[in-house]
Amino acid sequence: MAGGAGTRFWPKSRLKNPKQFLKLLGKASLLSDTVRRASMLVEPENCFVVTHKQYHGQVFESIPEIPPHNVIFEPANRDTASCIGLAALKLSKIDPEGIMMILPSDHYIGHEKAFMKTLESAIAYAEKHDYLMTLGIKPDSPQTGYGYICWERILTVENGYPVYQVQKFTEKPDQGTALFFLKQGTYLWNSGIFVWKISVILNAMEKYLPELYLELEKIEPFMGTPEEGVLLEKAYPHFPKVSIDYGIMEKADNIGTIPGDFIWDDVGSWSALEKYLPKDERNNTLNGGKHIAIDSRGCIIDSEAKLIATIGVEDLIIIQSEDVMLVCRKDRDQEVKRLVEKLKRYG
Ligand code: GDD
Ligand code: MG
Repeated sequence: MAGGAGTRFWPKSRLKNPKQFLKLLGKASLLSDTVRRASMLVEPENCFVVTHKQYHGQVFESIPEIPPHNVIFEPANRDTASCIGLAALKLSKIDPEGIMMILPSDHYIGHEKAFMKTLESAIAYAEKHDYLMTLGIKPDSPQTGYGYICWERILTVENGYPVYQVQKFTEKPDQGTALFFLKQGTYLWNSGIFVWKISVILNAMEKYLPELYLELEKIEPFMGTPEEGVLLEKAYPHFPKVSIDYGIMEKADNIGTIPGDFIWDDVGSWSALEKYLPKDERNNTLNGGKHIAIDSRGCIIDSEAKLIATIGVEDLIIIQSEDVMLVCRKDRDQEVKRLVEKLKRYG
């Protein structure tokens, strides 16, 4: 899934160049890293990317290894339920009982071997059971930007990993609820990485998102014909705009989870980069460009072309793109989103 339009990495992320296409953690874009990991389990011809048509150029530049006809372009942004529904419909033509892995393209994942093993366990369980599987992450703070999974009992052990029955899925709770969940000890964050049979997710859509399923059913006979594009162009903007988390995961009762033992981060804002990038002797993190400093500490710097020079500043985020320079206190980086909203209001 590569159609999201993140704003918290402004001014590097722009409407035309969102987070998944950025080289935030090294040489490759987050999308390219996602495809590289997927390729450890599946052949490139079985790897599909769903994105908005406006990202045509960035997708092919980011992941040249994916066959062009495996990129599914959406004519409108309708959130993840539509994205997954459209992909499931396409893939059901190949093998309706095949396993579908859903990978968001805006994550950092460390300990890739452990990640693969967790995924393989989820695949093994989904092959045998009509379950919607999600990889869980042990929470360490009351984040409100994630889904929370409450597990109730262990179902089985798959390839050495426990599979839990999910009792309740809560998408993006408020701060108080998130804190309560954290204290319980029976909650995991939803990684947003799902595994299921194509038939199982389509059945869940029919049951829990009938409006969306109806739209998909209308397109189904034309899939793979020359009419498909024209029909999608007309119908897709009217698809319900809802995420898979609110639309299905909060409602379904056949959900299983496997807690992952890999490093996972949604890399939600500039300060998240600090954990994964090397620092200089004064704790400054450099993601791109050059930084010369006297007595500056704890800064996060990313510059496309210019040398950034600082004297005696602490805990600042300094980002320089082609046309914008952002200077922000590190503890206020969540407000970059607000700044972008403000910018939009001023046109
Ligand atoms: N093709 C397509 N079309 N992709 C989309 C769309 C869309 O309309 N909207 C979002 N995506 C992509 C994003 O690019 C990202 O890779 C992925 O789908 C998830 O979307 P986000 O918008 O980043 O979701 P989130 O981070 O707020 O929440 C989800 O992920 C969290 C973990 O990072 C949820 O699944 C949460 O429950 C979860 O905790
Ligand atoms: Mg995300």
